[in-house]
Amino acid sequence: MLMSYLERKEAETRVAQVTRELVERNEELWRLQKEKGQVEPLVALGRVTGMIAHELGTPLNTMLGHSQFLGEEELTEGGRRRLKTIQKQIQRMVNTVQYYLSRTRISQPARSQVNVNELVLETLELLKPVFEQHELEVNTTLAESLAPLPANRGSLQRVLINLLNNAVDALKDGGTVTITTRAAAESPETSKEGVVIEVTDTGAGIPPEMLPEVFDLFLTTKESGKGTGLGLAVCQEIVKSHGGTIQITSKLGEGTCVRVFLPIDDTVAQPASAEVRE
Ligand SMILES: Nc1ncnc2c1ncn2[C@@H]1O[C@H](COP(=O)(O)OP(=O)(O)OP(=O)(O)O)[C@@H](O)[C@H]1O
Ligand SMILES: [Mg+2]
Repeated sequence: MLMSYLERKEAETRVAQVTRELVERNEELWRLQKEKGQVEPLVALGRVTGMIAHELGTPLNTMLGHSQFLGEEELTEGGRRRLKTIQKQIQRMVNTVQYYLSRTRISQPARSQVNVNELVLETLELLKPVFEQHELEVNTTLAESLAPLPANRGSLQRVLINLLNNAVDALKDGGTVTITTRAAAESPETSKEGVVIEVTDTGAGIPPEMLPEVFDLFLTTKESGKGTGLGLAVCQEIVKSHGGTIQITSKLGEGTCVRVFLPIDDTVAQPASAEVRE
């Protein structure tokens, strides 16, 4: 059976809504890029979402409109079946738009040999006013001799800032943030050598059911105008682009630990992952 009038209207509204959302998000990304100076990742994300909104959203609307007109004409049974297939495929493309929106990739910026401990201390200094404003205790446990890490310094600092900002937001009632660095293998199972950076807070924690989704683009529990749901998605992309992994463990009401592993030699890129551990 062909789509009913109401179903067509609903599908049409959905396509228009997705297009509008894409355009709005693209504008938001450009605004953020300017405000936060988060150039490469957000430019890349903004470009992709803008491209998708324009290249797919507009023709999808046109196709849906024409397929509806066609449905109002005299058609053979076979013709109606084909039209239904076309409309199903349009719907599939709408889903594709949403899929790519959550899968946008960041291009790889230039790297240098980064002293991770130095970068941690510099970043904590940068955020000192924020910690003081919220009266938070900040601890560091930095490994004594860490090998320099081949990385993009700016991108790595962005990871630290995003994670520390999340910790601060989770510590509304005060508490402690701890940054730990150490030389380590990626996991007991792999012998890949690298540097582990852990950002731990004694804050609100993340509900277990939300944990598998925290890296999704635009997932936020923060009030409108405060969080955009980009922080962890950007962290994950940066870590991935360095061949590393990022994992979050959290316990509601007790706190959160984000473990970032970055390999010294990242010739074999590993996928980043989120996992629940209580
Ligand atoms: N350390 C943490 N403690 C508790 N919840 C966290 C922590 N880090 C992330 N979250 C949860 O994960 C969500 C997604 O985090 P993410 O950094 O991606 O976006 P955001 O902080 O909401 O917004 P943005 O970082 O773009 O300003 C947060 O809204 C929050 O609910
Ligand atoms: Mg954040």
